[in-house]
Amino acid sequence: MSALQGEVVERVCGHFRLGEVTAVTRNRVGLIHATFEVEAGGEAWIVQRIHPVFGEAEMENVAMATRFLREHGVPAPEVVPAPDGKPFYREPSGLWRVTKRLPGRSFPTVPSAGIAEAAGAMLGRFHRVMARFPQNLRPGKRRLHDTAAIVAEAREVFERYRETPKFPPVADLVATLPDRIERLLLPGGFSVQIVHGDPKISNFLFEEEEVTGLLDLDAISTHTLLVDLGDALRSWCGTHEDDPRNRFDPGLADAALRGWRATALPLPPEEQRAIGRATRLITLELAVRFLRDYFEERYFAWDPARYPDAAAHHLARARSMVHLADSIPDDL
Ligand SMILES: Nc1ncnc2c1ncn2[C@@H]1O[C@H](COP(=O)(O)OP(=O)(O)O)[C@@H](O)[C@H]1O
Ligand SMILES: [Mg+2]
Repeated sequence: MSALQGEVVERVCGHFRLGEVTAVTRNRVGLIHATFEVEAGGEAWIVQRIHPVFGEAEMENVAMATRFLREHGVPAPEVVPAPDGKPFYREPSGLWRVTKRLPGRSFPTVPSAGIAEAAGAMLGRFHRVMARFPQNLRPGKRRLHDTAAIVAEAREVFERYRETPKFPPVADLVATLPDRIERLLLPGGFSVQIVHGDPKISNFLFEEEEVTGLLDLDAISTHTLLVDLGDALRSWCGTHEDDPRNRFDPGLADAALRGWRATALPLPPEEQRAIGRATRLITLELAVRFLRDYFEERYFAWDPARYPDAAAHHLARARSMVHLADSIPDDL
């Protein structure tokens, strides 16, 4: 962490009146916000510079939802209001948010069936509680998992690059992936409610096998529950995001769904039957987003230690997601 960053974090802590700052460290688990762990006034805080894809509406939604969740026994982080009462503070470097730090640790990947079951059970509690959320969410800056629009936009990008040297190595994917996704689109008419929007395992905190925190609610939105279930199973039950032999682990999926079913409201049978399809759909949706960024190189971060350029990393991820999708069973 640079001295300059430390100075900004201290200034933000001063604005939130957290008391004397005694320690600031950078947390590198999340990839979206710039996250700092702070000790101030004798207490532990999380101070985040919010990624510019999120705005004030999302900050208000998170503050309302986390309050409701805590009132109903779900350990969501408490957002600290700024002196003007708002759940954020705007300064030249962007929007900043402070939450109280919760105990526990997060995992980068699911280490055991017990952890999958506990995370599934917490996601189910989240869904059950948020089904009764009494307010409307404010519309955020972007719509989540609008798969038809994601594919349509990707098709336009692919056409723009058709005559470039980047095209031939991925001609097979461009020719098959968008059609495959469109054939898998979920039928209309599934019920919608508030979903988490980003149920990756790194957004859960654990002590032993108990969930002590459900984090990162910036993507909450109104959608079918299947997008959360599909996204959770995709990310919990695969191997690494760029593993060319990425395979779905049905044992972990069983454990996760056992946990989820124990706490969530029952799904109607036609939605129940669509869990496998939804998981494959979300996986291929991510594949097409990676493939688009293979051409454009502007959205996802990439790792220069392992790849010569962004395009190579994004292509490895796109192919890995297709491989993973091919191993997801229909009947989950
Ligand atoms: N209230 C909190 N208590 C404890 N740890 C937290 C809290 N908020 C965030 N973290 C830690 O910071 C990481 C990144 O925060 P998160 O809100 O998930 O941001 P990102 O969107 O960048 O993933 C989390 O994975 C977790 O390790
Ligand atoms: Mg996160």
